Amino acid sequence: MRVGVVVVAAGSGTRLGAGVPKAFAGLDGLTVLDRALAGIAEWDAIGALVVVAPAERVDDAERAVRRALRDRLAAPREVAVAVVAGGSSRQESVARGLAALSPSDIVLVHDAARALAPAALFDRVAAEVAASGDGVVPVLPIRDTIKRVHGDVVLGTVDRDELVAVQTPQGFPREVLERAYAAAEREATDDAALVSAIGHPVRTIDGDERAFKITTPADLARAEALLRGSGELRTGIGVDVHAFAEGVPLRLGGVDWPGSPVGLAGHSDGDAACHAIVDALLQAAGLGDIGTAFGTADPRYAGASGATFIRETAARVAGAGWAIRGVSVEIVANEPRIAPRREEIERVLTDLVGAPVTVAGTTSDGLGLTGSGRGVAAIATALLAR
Ligand code: CTP
Ligand code: MG
Repeated sequence: MRVGVVVVAAGSGTRLGAGVPKAFAGLDGLTVLDRALAGIAEWDAIGALVVVAPAERVDDAERAVRRALRDRLAAPREVAVAVVAGGSSRQESVARGLAALSPSDIVLVHDAARALAPAALFDRVAAEVAASGDGVVPVLPIRDTIKRVHGDVVLGTVDRDELVAVQTPQGFPREVLERAYAAAEREATDDAALVSAIGHPVRTIDGDERAFKITTPADLARAEALLRGSGELRTGIGVDVHAFAEGVPLRLGGVDWPGSPVGLAGHSDGDAACHAIVDALLQAAGLGDIGTAFGTADPRYAGASGATFIRETAARVAGAGWAIRGVSVEIVANEPRIAPRREEIERVLTDLVGAPVTVAGTTSDGLGLTGSGRGVAAIATALLAR
C-alpha cells in the first residue's frame, strides 16, 4: 500500500511569538520544519509527501524538503514531493495539501509543530490504518485532573478515564479522508473529527511523548532540551606518566611504534595515553581511578594492554548509566612525534572508547621527565552524560 503524508506547516505561530511562522522558528540549529521532515525522511515506507507552507515561505519549504530527503533517505527511492501554500485555517491547509498529494492508498496528516514525532510513530499509525481500514489517532493518557468551568467557577470534575490527549500523525484510508473533507460543514481542530462526523470509525493507538506539539516558547525549550540530550553532564581528568625502558616495544595511544628504540616501563604496556583516558573516564563516572578500579596488584591486569583497560572502562561507565560524549587527550613527549600519526591514533582510540576521541601532541620545552626525553606523559579529559 502506498502511503502519503501531508505535513501542515502554514500556521503563523502566534502563541510561540517567534517573529517568523512557527515552522521556520529555530530549533537547535535547524528549523521546526527541518526537524519534522528529518523524522519523516527516516521513515522507509513514505511514498508521497506534501508540505503545506505559508504562501510567502513556499520556496523555503521546498528547500527544506530537498535537504531533508537528501540527508535522510539512505538510498534514492521514489517519493513524490509537492509544496503548496496553506489556507487561513488548519483545516483549509490540510484540504489544500490533500488536493496536491500524489496517488496513495493511505494518508497521514501531521502537524509540523510536532517536530520531534519519530518515524516509528508514523509507521505504527500507517500499519494500524492498513490493518483496520479505520481512522487512527495516536493518543496519550491525561495526567492532570480536568475540570469543567464557567469563567473562574468550577462546575465539576470530568471523568479522566474517558479522556485522552490526541496527537498527529493521524492516519486514514485516503478515500475516507477525502470524503470527510468534502462533507465538512464546520471547522474542526483535527482530521479525525471530520472522519468521525461522516460515521467512519476512528481508533486510537499509543502516542509518543516526543510527538508533543510546539505551541509556546516553553514547548520550544523542551524540544531544544530533548535534542541536546540535556541530561546530567560530568567531566573527568586523568594524568599518567611512564618512563622509557630499553628492550620493550613501544605502544602509545593504542598503536604500536615499531621503529622506536625504547618502549615504556610499567605494570602493563605503559601506554600513558590510554591510562590517562581510563582515569578521566573513571573519574567522570565516579568509579575511582585506574589503581583502585583495576588494582595494580590484580594478576588479571598484569601486562594488560591500554586497549583492554579502555574497553573494560567503557563497559563499566556504561554499566553505571553514563554515555560517553567525548574524550580528548594530550600526549607530552619529545619522541615519538604524534603529529604524523595523529588521525590514525584518533581513529583507534575512538573505536576503543566508542565516542569521539581527539588527540594532540606537545613537548615540554626541555623541562622535566618528558623534556629530558626520559619518558612520556599524557593528560586526558572526558565528558559523560546521562
Ligand atoms: N496550520 C496550518 N495552517 C493554518 C493553521 C495551522 O498549516 N492556517 C498548521 C500549523 O503550521 C501547525 C499545525 O497546523 O503545524 C497545528 O497548528 P497550531 O499548533 O495551532 O499552529 P499555529 O496556528 O501556527 O499556532 P498558533 O495557533 O499559536 O498561531
Ligand atoms: Mg493555530
